[in-house]
Amino acid sequence: MKILLTGGAGFIGSHLAEALLKKGYRVVIVDNFNDYYSPRRKEENLNGIRDHRRLEVVRADIRDRERMEELFSRHRFPVVIHLAARAGVRPSLAQPLLYQDVNVGGTLVLLESARRAGTKTFFFASSSSVYGNCPRILLRENEPDLRPISPYGLTKLSGEHLCRIFHRQYGLRIVVFRFFTAYGPRQRPDMAIHAFIRLISEGREIPVFGDGTSRRDYTFIDDIVTGILLALDGEFDYEVFNLGGGHSITLFELINLLGDKLARTPTLKRLPFQPGDVMATRADVSKARKLLGYRPVTGLAQGIERFITWFREVEEEST
Ligand SMILES: NC(=O)c1ccc[n+]([C@@H]2O[C@H](COP(=O)([O-])OP(=O)(O)OC[C@H]3O[C@@H](n4cnc5c(N)ncnc54)[C@H](O)[C@@H]3O)[C@@H](O)[C@H]2O)c1
Repeated sequence: MKILLTGGAGFIGSHLAEALLKKGYRVVIVDNFNDYYSPRRKEENLNGIRDHRRLEVVRADIRDRERMEELFSRHRFPVVIHLAARAGVRPSLAQPLLYQDVNVGGTLVLLESARRAGTKTFFFASSSSVYGNCPRILLRENEPDLRPISPYGLTKLSGEHLCRIFHRQYGLRIVVFRFFTAYGPRQRPDMAIHAFIRLISEGREIPVFGDGTSRRDYTFIDDIVTGILLALDGEFDYEVFNLGGGHSITLFELINLLGDKLARTPTLKRLPFQPGDVMATRADVSKARKLLGYRPVTGLAQGIERFITWFREVEEEST
């Protein structure tokens, strides 16, 4: 089976591409290798699979309607896994129009191309950001009051609604994943674990926004990939799944853990709470457990050790 994987040169996408090829799928990656972070890093993400005979890498923008329609009519993908996006909450406050353009406009181009080409199943990468500052401790997929507090979160919620409409009106099968802070080797350099490990390693201060009590549910990349693969094996008409680690820790606890693992004492720079950041995320993964058999297995301490091993290898290679 041939799968279109958008954003396949990115953090989650490159891991997923490797796993899909290992499972025997044919994979067409569409990625524009933009400079949100180093395009060279995205090239390197594909090092292990670039020459794979079942992989094609297409350098294109998902907003390019003609290119997308041409690609769909050539390949007739039965399955699309759409990960390409402007990710990141804080930059979306500086560039809301760009986020809207790529994350909503780009998603619509793909849904429409998929509909015209007779694609059966469309997977969409959404985010825990759609929950905003939801007062519930455990976040559930059927939460009725979704109020994102950043342009990024809103673009993801809009993408979910577009998917729902394409399901209802055109019968496209849809699986929406709400990822909860993925981390692991190749994590985007702007994300907390990656950025903090770099700062601690270089003996620099860590900016701590707010009082350090904000909480996040961190999910190791292999668990995210496993969740997506499990959904590929299932048959769903329209489902939304939280993919989380299933536990959450505070910012201070995270920083202490990173300091422990790096055997260094982090120094902190206290700053005001950042607009757009939510106070807490914690996924209820019982639906994914029940319908997919999803069970996150990598604890945070173990996952951070694996990140640090990768980080040191990459640092050594670049010196
Ligand atoms: N990493 C997380 O913790 C997390 C959490 C929730 C949701 N998500 C979502 O998961 C997806 C993947 O995230 P990631 O962390 O791997 O990010 P990433 O930035 O590493 O990957 C995204 C990829 O999409 C590509 N891309 C962006 N705009 C494009 C465009 N217009 N045309 C073609 N390609 C384009 C980028 O070049 C990049 O390689 C995103 O949709 C993101 O919003 C990620």
